[in-house]
Amino acid sequence: MPMYVRGHKLKNRLFFAPMGLDLANRDGTFSDELFEFYRGIINGGCGFLVLSNASVSQYSILQPNGLRLFNETQSLSLQKIVRLAQEAQTLVGVQLQHYGGQGVTTYTRGKELLTPSGVPCATLKKKDSRYRVRVMTLEDIEIVKAQFVESARLAELSGTKLIQLQASNGYLLGSFQSPATNLRTDQYGGNAVARGRFLLEVIQAIRATISTSTMLSLRLGVDDYLGDKGTVATDFETLIPMYEEAGIDLIEASICVADTFSVLTGDAPEVSALLHLATKTIKSYATVPVGFAGLVRSVEQAEEILANGIADFVGMARALFADNDLIIKSLNGRQDEINWCLWDGKCFKDKHNPRYQRVYCCVNPKYKRPE
Ligand SMILES: Cc1cc2nc3c(=O)[nH]c(=O)nc-3n(C[C@H](O)[C@H](O)[C@H](O)COP(=O)(O)O)c2cc1C
Ligand code: SF4
Repeated sequence: MPMYVRGHKLKNRLFFAPMGLDLANRDGTFSDELFEFYRGIINGGCGFLVLSNASVSQYSILQPNGLRLFNETQSLSLQKIVRLAQEAQTLVGVQLQHYGGQGVTTYTRGKELLTPSGVPCATLKKKDSRYRVRVMTLEDIEIVKAQFVESARLAELSGTKLIQLQASNGYLLGSFQSPATNLRTDQYGGNAVARGRFLLEVIQAIRATISTSTMLSLRLGVDDYLGDKGTVATDFETLIPMYEEAGIDLIEASICVADTFSVLTGDAPEVSALLHLATKTIKSYATVPVGFAGLVRSVEQAEEILANGIADFVGMARALFADNDLIIKSLNGRQDEINWCLWDGKCFKDKHNPRYQRVYCCVNPKYKRPE
């Protein structure tokens, strides 16, 4: 069933969730390898997809081969895939990312990573011998806001009609939302609404500059998996209407931060249950479509989730990485030909393996991990 957002038709409710493959060129431009990868995903039949992790700042980098979007060369390199998607009537969006304290100092020429309150991330600290963070000043906040606005302008320049803000998984915008990482006592901290202020201002600033026909989506961290110490879905009761009023058109719920992400690498039913409940909670506060990505393995399961009213749209990252044609094969009754994801989480682990510096798969012959 299609979905209509800001006058655009999304041909179905299944999307390829953002997946940083670390296959961009070293200057952050879109590479031929990425083009081939996304061509496969587009041909596989999803309604829309988001090109992941386009960093808004040269001082916010996680992988040397990550996508970046802070100059016009990077923007123009996206045009070819955007045009291809338009021809296939599939919407392709760009995810704008600031890694915050979950970046790598080694790749930012020693610049300290920006965080709301200087709380380090244990996972990244272990990976990066030069890991250092600092507390953002009010001036930093204005600079980063301007970086998001510029990056959104560059996204539009590439021709895309969908921009996604990465406000989940412990990265900068998500870390402002979380009581575990935002200990500020100024206007950007103190309670859930104040912690949401930075994101709100970023949304307002972007909406004030982009075209009214461009969709703005939020990848929202709805539970850090840290219990009461972190973000929980009920933190957003007041914020969701404010984000909508500021111009958000779609919300993609996500859970976990870098230090808890390993719970998503298996396929534990209690993790799915938490994600479904958190998504439903956000949906109860929202009037715009709300979806999620996490642990959905098949089209049949996605259809059940939609039929049960848990979400308005459903994402798959690993299942579609394992088989780019999973959707088409399922719709044509060719389930027996699908390369099913093993849920071993090895693609996650590749991201932190210096031997690879890119993501591979165990079952997809196109991206087979070298032995
Ligand atoms: C290798 C890998 C890279 C990922 N990169 C990103 C990313 O760049 N941005 C993002 O928002 N999520 C990223 N994710 C998270 C996925 O979007 C998704 O939330 C997560 O994998 C759970 O969905 P799944 O169970 O369908 O894989 C990544 C996941 C994997 C496995
Ligand atoms: S590497 Fe493993 S978990 Fe990742 S997509 Fe492939 S089979 Fe699935």
